[in-house]
Amino acid sequence: MCGIVGVLGKHEAAPLLVEALKRLEYRGYDSAGIATVNDGKLDRRRAIGKLVNLSDLLVHNPLAGKSGIGHTRWATHGAPSVKNAHPHQAGDVTVVHNGIIENFMELRAELNNNKIKCETDTDTEVVALLAKYYLSQGLSPAESVKKTISRLSGAFALAFLFDGEDDLMLVARRGSPLAIGHGDGEVYIGSDAIAMAHLTSKITYLDEGDFAQLSRKNIQIEDRNGTIVNREEKNIDVSSIAIDKAGYKHFMAKEIAEQPLTLAKTIKNYLDEDAEQIRLPKNDIKLANIDCLTMVACGTAFYAALTAKYWFEKIARIKVEVDVASEFRYREPPVTKETTAIFVSQSGETADTLAALRYMSSQNAKIISVVNVPESSIARESDLVLPLYVGPEIGVASTKAFTAQLTVLALLALKIAKTKNVITEAQYCIYLEELKVIPELINQTLSIESNIQKIAAELVSSQDVIFLGRGAMYPLAMEGALKLKEISYIHAEGYPSGELKHGPIALIDKNVPVVVIAPMDSLFDKSVSNMQEVMARSGKILLISCLKGLDKASQGTWATIVMPTIPEFIAPIIYAVPMQLLAYHTALAKGTDADQPRNLAKSVTVE
Ligand code: G6P
Repeated sequence: MCGIVGVLGKHEAAPLLVEALKRLEYRGYDSAGIATVNDGKLDRRRAIGKLVNLSDLLVHNPLAGKSGIGHTRWATHGAPSVKNAHPHQAGDVTVVHNGIIENFMELRAELNNNKIKCETDTDTEVVALLAKYYLSQGLSPAESVKKTISRLSGAFALAFLFDGEDDLMLVARRGSPLAIGHGDGEVYIGSDAIAMAHLTSKITYLDEGDFAQLSRKNIQIEDRNGTIVNREEKNIDVSSIAIDKAGYKHFMAKEIAEQPLTLAKTIKNYLDEDAEQIRLPKNDIKLANIDCLTMVACGTAFYAALTAKYWFEKIARIKVEVDVASEFRYREPPVTKETTAIFVSQSGETADTLAALRYMSSQNAKIISVVNVPESSIARESDLVLPLYVGPEIGVASTKAFTAQLTVLALLALKIAKTKNVITEAQYCIYLEELKVIPELINQTLSIESNIQKIAAELVSSQDVIFLGRGAMYPLAMEGALKLKEISYIHAEGYPSGELKHGPIALIDKNVPVVVIAPMDSLFDKSVSNMQEVMARSGKILLISCLKGLDKASQGTWATIVMPTIPEFIAPIIYAVPMQLLAYHTALAKGTDADQPRNLAKSVTVE
């Protein structure tokens, strides 16, 4: 999704801005641009495609100036083109924007009536034009911007520069994240701390509705009521947000490979010193009173929530409703007094998930969030935040965050089960010990990568792939299909194994690979029966199971993936790994960009 950066500095801004934009590449974008003020004059450069195109343009047509703003654009209104790329400029104002101005059509009509013409297809241009208009009415830059944002509905993080103003940047946030970085006689802005990690570790996160006036020496922040406020300056550990591929070809490969370490860290953070009990961050939610849960998320995080439903129901004996945020938020579901809602989000900024959270908050539900970014909007609006502790996830397709989401949710289910006294002490201990071996089992699973690579080399020529799973493997089947389509652009669908005969079986022929996820669990025999139904119709089966399972059922399959023997409770977490590797190696074989697949964004801050 769009990324914003800015600097009022002592050195040339353009190289700093391009470096900052590189750090936001992971969010997904299709054009980029920067603007500077040099000796009081505004100028800008914009290019479509990857940042390298903008860098090339700057080599041939440099942009001087120590004050600047930059933007990576993920097209929403209007195709990716130079004309539509940010920064947008109108007279003496230039602006970058992340979010969507929902009333831009009305504003555009109003501007047209005043003989002010729009030249782009974007929603953002009206922001620049309105600010220009108010400036022309004699308002100061700050007054013009405040007046402009009072006219906007929708979501935005905005940064403005002005002709004639070398030491002024105005920023505002409503719905989209924005942070300020503090330097030595310099000031920076970014959509997140990662964007500024090469410049500073001192970060202030703006709150919802904030407006700020920045100069090199002074920062003045006003809250949504116009009251001047102090926002905490945090010291962010820059090493923890270092983003490099550590020798891997892609961030995705690195993030898959580091899961034994990241999950060991996640688990450690949720256990007490003796590693005997699950410890949650301090909160006032009465776990013993929870008897129903509403879980809401998007994308991969939604499949983590769907998987966790099996644990909450079976182990903690709690009724669970799970929904995708974009549907949930508009249903206005009734909320009872004791409702607790769990929001799962890697970024903590997904617009629909945040809106669903706000709906549940307004209904007085208790809010738990499972997030990877503790400073995110979702985290900040929760009663209990359960962090993932996996460090920044840069690959667009979520991997290490997914397995950590599952692990945290499994720990929470176990904690609630224990608090509610619905499992025996002995069973609790068994489950806890099983959770502790996750890193080791993932390590073992990673050793099968070369086998998966060979399978991917054949899978890559398929047009459609079906993934089947039963019980907690059903959400994983959908996650496996999502991973494959996201990064290799092969059409894939995940189904509950038992549902296949109610329609999708019509798709089966010798050209459609069917990935059967069938650990040796209580549902193994049922899964094998469904697999036989596919084989009877010349289906091409890739069976994923442990040695015992493969011994029993691999006859007649096209290919197999051998998994370690895994306790049923934690199987979804470990079986996620072959899904990730299969998608990754298929993308490699196809030559697609696994880290930045076409059309996708990492953090979806628009609805
Ligand atoms: C985007 C990403 C997915 C992610 C989803 C939800 O679609 O491409 O990888 O699962 O958003 O993001 P969140 O940050 O809320 O987990």
